[in-house]
Amino acid sequence: MAAAAVAPKQAWPPWPWPPLLLLLLLPTGSGGGCPAVCDCTSQPRAVLCAHRRLEAVPGGLPLDTELLDLSGNRLWGLQQGMLSRLGLLRELDLSYNQLSSLEPGAFQGLRSLLTLRLQGNRLRIMGPGVFSGLPALTVLDLRLNQIVLFLDGAFGDLGSLQQLEVGDNHLVFVAPGAFAGLAKLSALTLERCNLSTVPGPALARLPELVSLRLRELDIGRLPAGALQGLGQLRELEIHHWPALEALEPGSLAGLNLSSLAITRCNLSSVPFQALHHLSFLRVLDLSQNPISAIPARGLSPLVRLQELRLSGAGLTSIAAQAFHGLPAFHRLDVADNALQTLEETAFPSPEKLVALKLSGNPLTCDCRLLWLLRLRRRLDFGASPPACAGPRHVQGKSLGEFSDILPPGHFTCQPALIQKSGPRWVIAEEGGRAVFSCSGDGDPAPTVSWLRPPGAWLGRAGRVRVLEDGTLEIRSVQLRDRGAYVCVVSNVAGNDSLRTWLEVIQVEPPNGTLFDPNITTPGVPGPFLLDSRGVAMVLAVGFLPFLTSVTLCFGLIALWSKGKGRVKHHVTFDFVAPRPTVEKNSGGNRVTAKLF
Ligand SMILES: *[C@@H]1O[C@H](CO)[C@@H](O)[C@H](O)[C@H]1NC(C)=O
Ligand SMILES: *[C@@H]1O[C@H](CO)[C@@H](O)[C@H](O)[C@H]1NC(C)=O
Ligand SMILES: *[C@@H]1O[C@H](CO)[C@@H](O)[C@H](O)[C@H]1NC(C)=O
Ligand SMILES: *[C@@H]1O[C@H](CO)[C@@H](O)[C@H](O)[C@H]1NC(C)=O
Ligand SMILES: *[C@@H]1O[C@H](CO)[C@@H](O)[C@H](O)[C@H]1NC(C)=O
Ligand SMILES: *[C@@H]1O[C@H](CO)[C@@H](O)[C@H](O)[C@H]1NC(C)=O
Repeated sequence: MAAAAVAPKQAWPPWPWPPLLLLLLLPTGSGGGCPAVCDCTSQPRAVLCAHRRLEAVPGGLPLDTELLDLSGNRLWGLQQGMLSRLGLLRELDLSYNQLSSLEPGAFQGLRSLLTLRLQGNRLRIMGPGVFSGLPALTVLDLRLNQIVLFLDGAFGDLGSLQQLEVGDNHLVFVAPGAFAGLAKLSALTLERCNLSTVPGPALARLPELVSLRLRELDIGRLPAGALQGLGQLRELEIHHWPALEALEPGSLAGLNLSSLAITRCNLSSVPFQALHHLSFLRVLDLSQNPISAIPARGLSPLVRLQELRLSGAGLTSIAAQAFHGLPAFHRLDVADNALQTLEETAFPSPEKLVALKLSGNPLTCDCRLLWLLRLRRRLDFGASPPACAGPRHVQGKSLGEFSDILPPGHFTCQPALIQKSGPRWVIAEEGGRAVFSCSGDGDPAPTVSWLRPPGAWLGRAGRVRVLEDGTLEIRSVQLRDRGAYVCVVSNVAGNDSLRTWLEVIQVEPPNGTLFDPNITTPGVPGPFLLDSRGVAMVLAVGFLPFLTSVTLCFGLIALWSKGKGRVKHHVTFDFVAPRPTVEKNSGGNRVTAKLF
């Protein structure tokens, strides 16, 4: 039941009016005459004195006046009791005057007043008692003044006030008790003020607040619990806070919102942690934030979410299952982003979708958008339907232009295939670096990922990581890195994989001590030492046959030693260091290779 924002007063034609017209208007009025400069005929019980260069409230106002318009004059003060005889007045417009102070009791006696417009004046201070004697007031507009602070009790006992507009002031401080007594206030807009924090304690005194708009403020954070105590709040709008880069996890604690807009801020991701308790949320608007992705299932705690708006956000991907867990979801606005596609799997049930705004995205019209083509007549695409940015033969064509029977080669995909890869067997020295390259072909361009059997996908960060171009890089190779790595290239049409193997050579400390018997790898039998003769042999025979024969030897030794207690098996040779940097002063180093 939020009241609509008050529209700015439109400029009226300036005085002077044609004198003849004025003469015709003069002798009219209702009740108790009409002030000579005003118009009392246009509307019943209305006295219209806008733009008359008045410096004071004209005398002789009819006692039954319900609307008094004094906007756009030069009134500079309002004394106590000046209007007190107008007990039937319902609307008083004092906007765009030069009022700089209001005496306490200035509006005393206006028992029926519902709307009071004071925007566009020069008010600086709201002294206590200014708004006393206004038991029926529901709308108060104080925008475009120079108010710096609201002190405790600034709004006296406006017990019926439902809508308060205080934007475009110099507000730097709102005292904790400033809004005390506003028992019915349901809508509050704070915009373009100099506030550096959200006045949480003052807001907490508004038990009936349903709609709160906080716009164009230079506030960089919303601390945990900042809006605590607003249990009835259903709509919260935070618009254009350029310094807001993240929403802290508890910042919306205590709220039960049905609509939340955090637009044109600087959020770089959907603030899932701050939102997760909003199980009654129906509309979420995060438009015009630099958010690049919607991950899978992140919104699922918002079980009643129906609509998400994320236009103009720089989105590059919407994950499969992004909207899963949201049974009521049916409207999505992701217009003007950088999406190349939107896969059907993002939605729990695509046929439930009613509105989808997707224009202004560089869409690739391949098999991933077939579902959209199928639903194109039923879906509400907003102002303009999405258009293809590629492939070339359909470039610029809007989805609405395709007929039901597609020509061959339209909306198709090619499954991913491994195109080229580096060696499938890589030997790396302990502490060194190993690299496996892999790339694939397909349409749409496949993604390359790496799997460490039995089932761990490797990430983009850490010692073992997948680089941007799909290369797998292992830095500071450790013995436990030894084993298989599987390259998987995949796209929506299919996948292909290739198995590679990393062998690790253990390096002794350079000062020549024997290997540390404590360093062993589980599942690997005892280590053996290798030096220059060994390496020479390896080079002569080849690594694989060498390993095979040594394994055989060890097998025999192990059989022989069975029952004689644990024996460590060392095969010692002279050494030629395999690392190019150490090669110059070779001689004393030893290499220990692990067998498998
Ligand atoms: C409020 O901010 C405006 C613009 O940033 C500035 O001109 C004005 O002096 C500020 N007022 C106060 C009271 O700080
Ligand atoms: C928005 O955030 C980024 C960092 O996340 C920062 O570099 C940029 O300056 C911020 N923009 C504004 C207007 O504060
Ligand atoms: C939250 O708000 C909804 C209406 O949007 C209401 O039905 C529900 O009872 C409220 N829950 C709490 C805990 O106040
Ligand atoms: C590869 O495709 C098969 C079906 O062709 C599928 O079962 C499998 O899950 C896919 N693997 C990956 C990693 O996408
Ligand atoms: C060489 O070994 C000795 C102990 O035998 C040790 O104290 C020393 O730190 C080692 N030097 C290097 C460079 O590791
Ligand atoms: C090897 O491990 C034992 C205990 O398992 C420990 O007492 C010993 O100090 C370790 N030796 C070295 C060189 O770390």
